This record gives sequence, structure tokens and C-alpha cells, in this order.
Amino acid sequence: MTLPTPLSTRRNFLKTTAATALLAGGFPLMSLAQEQAVNALKIPALDTGRLENGTRVYDLTMQKSTTEFYKGYQTPTFGLNGSYLGPTLRMKDGEPVRINVTNTLGEPSTLHWHGMHLPAKMDGGPHQIIRDGETWSPEFGVRQKAATLWYHAHLMGKTAEHVWHGLAGQVWIDDAESEALALPRSYGVDDIPLVLQDRNFTRSGDMPYTAGRRDMMMGLFGNTPLTNGTLAAYFDATTDKLRLRLHNASNASFYYLGFDNDQPFLQIASDGGLLETPVEMNRLLLGPAERGEIVVDLKAGQKITLRNFSNGQPFAFLEIRAADTLTASPAVPQKLAQIAWLDPKDAVKTRRFDMETRMGPGMMFGGGMHTINGKSMDINRIDETVQRDTTEIWEIRNVANMPHVWHMHDVQFQILNRNGKPPAANERARKDTVTLRGGEVVRLIMRFEDYADPDSPFMYHCHILEHEDAGMMGQFVVV
Ligand code: C2O
Ligand code: CU
Ligand code: CU
Repeated sequence: MTLPTPLSTRRNFLKTTAATALLAGGFPLMSLAQEQAVNALKIPALDTGRLENGTRVYDLTMQKSTTEFYKGYQTPTFGLNGSYLGPTLRMKDGEPVRINVTNTLGEPSTLHWHGMHLPAKMDGGPHQIIRDGETWSPEFGVRQKAATLWYHAHLMGKTAEHVWHGLAGQVWIDDAESEALALPRSYGVDDIPLVLQDRNFTRSGDMPYTAGRRDMMMGLFGNTPLTNGTLAAYFDATTDKLRLRLHNASNASFYYLGFDNDQPFLQIASDGGLLETPVEMNRLLLGPAERGEIVVDLKAGQKITLRNFSNGQPFAFLEIRAADTLTASPAVPQKLAQIAWLDPKDAVKTRRFDMETRMGPGMMFGGGMHTINGKSMDINRIDETVQRDTTEIWEIRNVANMPHVWHMHDVQFQILNRNGKPPAANERARKDTVTLRGGEVVRLIMRFEDYADPDSPFMYHCHILEHEDAGMMGQFVVV
């Protein structure tokens, strides 16, 4: 088992966060050391849609509201069908779906299906703007392995702010293969969505988005953890195994997750679906937007806490309280999913992408702080053109000395190697997002299938949302 090393630059980040909180004119209501779990974990509503002429239809309303994170304080927030975050949409491979997304925010936004393979026009990126008062109704067939995906706002220059305020939720895909496996699958009982975030609150209970120049450089970090929008959360477990769908939905934080008693767990899935076999771990590193499903064993009466072990953000995300008698769950199967490994021999092209961060005078004048291949995002420029039904290798180099997070739309890729070495067992998976420490190089292989549209680009970008908004993004079309 290989353990990822925590990101070493973290120590400096803490200072930034503290300074930012002070500049924002507020002290956090709750200190970093808050350990007492006092609120029952909120479980997002489960939305399995309704059938209309064979199409599964979902309705999402983006709304502006307030949320009581702290007792007695109403915090202004954004949400979908609720005051903060949105429901879990459950879909099945092979089904046609339509999602009616109505914007009542009083300002434009978008809603992107992160990790989904779909036509670019339905992707919900910066090109599919939903104006206030409008409804956008993307329609597509689900062609996807069972996975924990998600949705979030993706408006040019506003992604970080909109996600910070609450425009995000999970999408669960089921398929025949996953349904045949003896894995925990009762929503909110033994199969739990965990949207992990961190935020800063002012003394008056506001959660303002305050990214200044320094945060655009480092990313905006919170000092207060939220789990499904719950502060200081606990969960009452009734089964002796829990499947946790861990999801880093923070703007910029790297979570190095594990339990306070260091007990091991099995990772069963990554971003794009189930692994071939479970991987035993006791820490899991998730960069912004990465997901990992784990199964953890519980003993009757036990209390364990899911924590972030990154330097500087010693968060307790969830206290799990096991009941005095637990329902027995079946053993985790040794064989999970079949992954169709792509062969580098089939690649018709290798593209190289340098993720770069430049400090110094250039950044004072706006552009060019974080770039990909030396370029800042230009919505009128197509950076790459890819042929449909081809396999390619994309080599991503983080030439900066800070971490970046590569994400691309349309496909689930496979990691061929990381710094020339085979990927860790839990990264031998279908992925849509990959963390690169400063100086790291990953070679990714992917196949572009089904959808082509010369007029509608897909995005690739750093998923540190402040970096994305600062221009660390590019566009590709499949033709
Ligand atoms: Cu999760 Cu382009 O986004
Ligand atoms: Cu995406
Ligand atoms: Cu970045």
C-alpha cells in the first residue's frame, strides 16, 4: 500500500487563511479546534426523477436563501431545491434523462455535470448560461459506468463564488454490474453521500466569498468544515459496514482523509466508478473535485471520526456513532467492476499541457497568473481539436511549485503513469480529475466517443476554483 504524502505547502496556507478571515472583517464563529459533533448529518434529498414518455425527468431550481449553519444565525446561501447544496440525482446507465434547471438567483449561472459523458451542448459549462428567470433543459442518454459524479455551477469567472455559496450536489449512476454486487446501497442508511467542504464565517454568521489577489494565487481555504452543509456533524450508524461517498467539493483544499483511530478502510471506487478490486488504505488524498467511495467496518457502540489530516486544516468532518446492535452487512466482494483498459499503442496523438503559476509583476496586471501552455482562458479560442473515435494520450505537467488539479470534461481517463511510475492501486481507475503536486507529471489515456460538435467545446482546467476563474482553463472540441 502506498500512502500519499500530505502536501507540504499546506503550512503556508494556514497563515493565508487566518489573514483573509481578519481582512474579511470577521472572526470565525467556531474555532479550528471545534471537536464536538452536535448536529445530525444532513442527508441530501434523493431524487430518482419521474418517467415521462420513457425519459427520466428531474427538476432543479437554483435559489437564493438562508441557511442556519450556526444556531440562531441565518447565513445567506445558494441552493438547488433547498437553501444550500442540492438533492442527490440518481440515474441509471442506458436511460434517457432530462433535467429542467430553473434559475431564480437574480443573476446568471450555469449547471455542469462533472464527470458525465454527454454532448457538449448539454454539458452546462461556461457556454450554457442560464439567465435569471430562465429554464435550461439538457437532455441526453446516460452512458456511464456506476459512479459518484456531481453537478456544480460553472459560469466564467464566477464558478468559485457560486460553488462557495452552495451550488453543488451529487449524481449517482447505477448500472447492471453495480446492482449485482453485494455492496451497501440503502441511501442515507448504509450508503452515504458526503459532500466535504470548508468555509469561513464572519461573526455575524455570513459566509462571504472574499477571494482577494492572494486567494486567487493560493486558492480560497476555509477554516470551518461542512459535511453535506452540516457543521459539526454526527451520523448514527445501524449497520456494521458503511459505504461513504467521499467527495471533495471544496474550492481549493486538499483533503487527506482517514479516521481518528487510524483504522483501515477499503476504497471501492474513484471518480468514474468502481475499482477492479477493493484497495485497503488508512488515508485517502482527495484534491478539489475528486471522489472516492470507501467501505468502513464498525463495531457495536464504537465512535470514530472522519478527519482531514492535511497540515493546517485539522478538520473533523463526521463523527460516526455505531448503535449498540448493528445489522450485519455482507463482505465486500473481491471482484468489483471490469475496467476496459486503454492501450497506449492505440493512441493516435500525444498532447502536452503545462500547468504553470507565475508570481511577480505579470500577475499584478491581471492575466497570466495561472496558465495552461502559457495561455489564459479565452472563450473565443478553441485550444485543441480532437477526432471522434480516437484514443489519445494527454501528458500533464505541473511545472509550478504548488499543487494543481487537472480536470477534463466529456471523458473518464486512465492514468498510465505518474512521474514515470505506475499509478497507486487506488488510482488504477476511471478518473476525471487528478491531483498533481508541484513538479509532477501524469500521462493520461482517454478515448473520445459518441459525441462530436465542432461548435460546442468541452473544458479542461485546474479544479482549484480560484485558479479556474483566474483563467487556468482551455477548450477542446471533438469533431
Ligand atoms: Cu467540475 Cu469544468 O468542472
Ligand atoms: Cu467537469
Ligand atoms: Cu491550480
